[in-house]
Amino acid sequence: PGAGSATASLAGLRVLISAGPTYEDIDPVRFIGNRSSGKMGFSIAAAAARRGADVVLVAGPVSLPSPEAVTRINVRSAADMHAAVMAQLPADVYIGAAAVADFTPREASASKIKKRPGSDTLTLELVRTPDILAEVAAHASQRPRLVVGFAAETDNVEGYARGKLDNKRLDMIAANRVGVAGSGFECDDNALSVFWGDGERALGPAAKTELADLLLDLVLERLADTTP
Ligand code: CTP
Ligand code: CA
Repeated sequence: PGAGSATASLAGLRVLISAGPTYEDIDPVRFIGNRSSGKMGFSIAAAAARRGADVVLVAGPVSLPSPEAVTRINVRSAADMHAAVMAQLPADVYIGAAAVADFTPREASASKIKKRPGSDTLTLELVRTPDILAEVAAHASQRPRLVVGFAAETDNVEGYARGKLDNKRLDMIAANRVGVAGSGFECDDNALSVFWGDGERALGPAAKTELADLLLDLVLERLADTTP
C-alpha cells in the first residue's frame, strides 16, 4: 500500500546489478572463491524486470537460471566483472550485490602447480582487486543517480556499513549479518539493515524474493528524494 507498494513501476529506469561470487584463478585447475550463491542479486534483477525496469545483470559463476526479461552477462574474475560493469554504464541505478574477491593471485600459473618434494608450504602472492562499487560511485561523467552497495558483516553491522557508505560515496547500503544460521549466505531467507545519509530501515527477515521488492521500493523512494 502507498509508497511501500511492491508493484510500483520501474518502467523507464535502466538498472545495472552485479551478483554472485568471483573466482580468482591460481592455476588451470584451482581458484580462490567465496561463499555467495548469487540469490539476492538475482532476486533483485528478477523483481526489477517484473516491475518494468530495463535490467542488466552482471553475474559471477553461479548455478542459477537467468531471470525472465533480464540481459545477463557472465563473468568469472573481479577484473572481468569490473570491465563488464564499466562497459554497461550509463545506468540510472547500480546495485552492487556481488561478493567481489578483494585479492587475486598476482599471476595465475599457466600450468598446474605441483607439490615440491621436501616443501610443506606454498606461498601465493595476492594483490588487491579494483573496487567496482567505489569506482562506479566516483565516475566523473556516468555516475548513476543511485548507487547501492551491500555489506556482509559479522559484527558492528551499522558501524562498518556506514563506514562503507561514506568511504565509497554511496547513496545507500544494505547490510546483512553473515555467520548467523538460517540467513545470509547460501540460503533463501535474509534480513537487511539498510542505511543512507540520514535514515535507516530494517527489511525482513523474509524470503530473498520478497526482500528484493522491499529494497526496490526503497530505491524508488530514494530516487524521488534525491531528484530535484
Ligand atoms: N565491492 C566491489 N569491489 C570490490 C570489493 C567490494 O564492488 N573489489 C562491493 C561489494 O559488491 C559490496 C560492497 O563493495 O557491494 C562492500 O563489499 P564488502 O566486501 O562488504 O566491503 P569491502 O569494501 O571489500 O571491505 P571488507 O571486505 O574489508 O569488509
Ligand atoms: Ca570485501
